Amino acid sequence: MQKRLPDIRNRLTHAGYDTGEAYMLARLALEHVAELGNPAEALEALIQGLLRQEPIQYLTGKGHFYGRDFIVNPDVLIPRQETEELAVWIRDEVLKSGQKTPHVLDIGTGSGCIPITLDLEWKERGLQATLMGVDVSEKALKIASENALLLGSDVSWQQMDILQAADTAFTQLDLIVSNPPYIPAEEFDALPDNVRLHEPATALIPPGEPLLFYDTIADLALHWLKPGGSLYFEIHEDFGPQMVALLQEKGFENIRLRRDLRGRDRMVGGRKAAF
Ligand SMILES: C[S@@+](CC[C@H](N)C(=O)[O-])C[C@H]1O[C@@H](n2cnc3c(N)ncnc32)[C@H](O)[C@@H]1O
Repeated sequence: MQKRLPDIRNRLTHAGYDTGEAYMLARLALEHVAELGNPAEALEALIQGLLRQEPIQYLTGKGHFYGRDFIVNPDVLIPRQETEELAVWIRDEVLKSGQKTPHVLDIGTGSGCIPITLDLEWKERGLQATLMGVDVSEKALKIASENALLLGSDVSWQQMDILQAADTAFTQLDLIVSNPPYIPAEEFDALPDNVRLHEPATALIPPGEPLLFYDTIADLALHWLKPGGSLYFEIHEDFGPQMVALLQEKGFENIRLRRDLRGRDRMVGGRKAAF
């Protein structure tokens, strides 16, 4: 492995990757083919994919999220670190609250990384949660259910276009979480090639105003949550104050804007009034 690493790294740096990234990708590529028994053609196919700026996670078929490997393919967004932070925030808030049987809905579930992680983390701590993930994409739900099976989680799945959902679709939920599409259309061209050319555009860009999904989901949450139930979102770093104002206008209480480890406004949570 050590002998081939500099060669692969050099090929990747010539294609425009910076040295650190090229080194890391070369290592991941070599580790992946080692697991397959080192077939030379598999390594070359991986390198060719990287030269086309394909994400290593799609090439290896797995993305890491909070200590677990999730199956990924171009039908689902690759799980991100800031989303891990959102999941950990929710995990801990529910544990602190003393709830033992939370009913949870994840909207725009993609690979299923959020509800599966919550399910497994809570199970380890004795909670009996009921979780459902919904997505407009049937193909994404197929991957999510494969992940649940692989990781031993009981999350259930439902196809749903949240922009057309009925006020009555759910009731008495304890918690709703969503990491919806939030990249403004005008930022699309500036995204890195591996994201712009290879990740599903429907997972990235809302079909309208940047806050379209947040506005819709916050309205639905007022119907779907129990009094005192919680709503959590991952957000674009530029929209923190706007998101706080949106939730205030709709009457949510205990609104908290939270920064990620890099200091950017990336999460917001609120609570439906208890009465
Ligand atoms: C930013 S991705 C988040 C995926 C996953 N929750 C994660 O954090 O990695 C947004 C997800 O919303 C889904 N989505 C897009 N439009 C939707 C709609 N109208 N109704 C429901 N889900 C939608 C996409 O298919 C995608 O899986």
